[in-house]
Amino acid sequence: GKYRVVSTKSMPGTRWINLLVDQDCRLEICTEKKTILSVEDIISLIGNKCDGVIGQLTEDWGERLFSALSRAGGTAFSNMAVGYNNVDVDAANKYGVAVGNTPGVLTETTAELAASLSLAAARRIVEADEFMRGGLYDGWLPHLFVGNLLKGQTVGVIGAGRIGSAYARMMVEGFKMNLIYYDLYQSTRLEKFVTAYGDFLKASGEQPVTWRRASSMDEVLREADVISLHPVLDKTTYHLVNKERLGKMKKEAILINCSRGPVIDEAALVDHLRQNPMFRVGLDVFEEEPYMKPGLAEMKNAIVVPHIASASKWTREGMATLAALNVLGKIKKYPIWADPNRVEPFLNENSPPPP
Ligand code: GLV
Ligand code: GLV
Repeated sequence: GKYRVVSTKSMPGTRWINLLVDQDCRLEICTEKKTILSVEDIISLIGNKCDGVIGQLTEDWGERLFSALSRAGGTAFSNMAVGYNNVDVDAANKYGVAVGNTPGVLTETTAELAASLSLAAARRIVEADEFMRGGLYDGWLPHLFVGNLLKGQTVGVIGAGRIGSAYARMMVEGFKMNLIYYDLYQSTRLEKFVTAYGDFLKASGEQPVTWRRASSMDEVLREADVISLHPVLDKTTYHLVNKERLGKMKKEAILINCSRGPVIDEAALVDHLRQNPMFRVGLDVFEEEPYMKPGLAEMKNAIVVPHIASASKWTREGMATLAALNVLGKIKKYPIWADPNRVEPFLNENSPPPP
């Protein structure tokens, strides 16, 4: 191969490998056993000749890595993730490295996990499963694991971009929930969808669903029964949900987070879960992964899963393929931006607002 490309992890599928190998690339996949690679580990992988790197969200892509990549002649880096809070895009720009991410292919998969956690929390599925396996079930009872009926309740979405909108549609259409959302941008497609579905229900003689775009996040927190967080993580969304905001939510609300851990003040959340046993939470992400804040693992009103929102076979193979295309496109100067299926090839070269 004429170009040297490094992937810091093995990734699902073979399409991404073939794409690179068939196009003059010598691909090196790191086989290091430890899960999270340090900056030093990656600097040694980059070595003194490297055209592009496919990396992971667990890695700290800042000044040191981009300067090392640039010194090795590299011009392309792609995160195998849609989120890129682990990437210092300004540093990448400074060293002439283009940055890619993998939007689009994980939208529905991630929204489906948020929906799964919403249902699991509403119907207390994890607690009930533990109860069964613990041999505690000794007969049907009217009070056993009573949860909430989502139909007619209000789903609150904070951040109605690709994933937040997909989740909203699932909850509205699947469970006939009313929608309240907060986003800096208006989501006209989502509004039209809920309006049309509401009209359909009305025509069938059913109670229509309604929607409202809130003028503040606190409005969503006060009114919604199930709240799902879908913002990007940056300085403005760090600890977006803090002690004060938790206090504004209904005592029996359900809070879902499949975005990034630091969006919630996790220590404040643990206190809140302790003081409000009917408040429930479904978390895919944590403030300091892979750790949980003390006390969280003991809370019966919390469901916790290990950052698996994009973990479907189709999506993970798609993410790997997009990551490879990002790097390949930059190295070989392909006009891949002309492909209508590509949403945001390189963040720092062409970054449209979400559709
Ligand atoms: C996963 O968390 C992603 O950002 O793709
Ligand atoms: C419950 O199992 C019922 O039949 O209502």
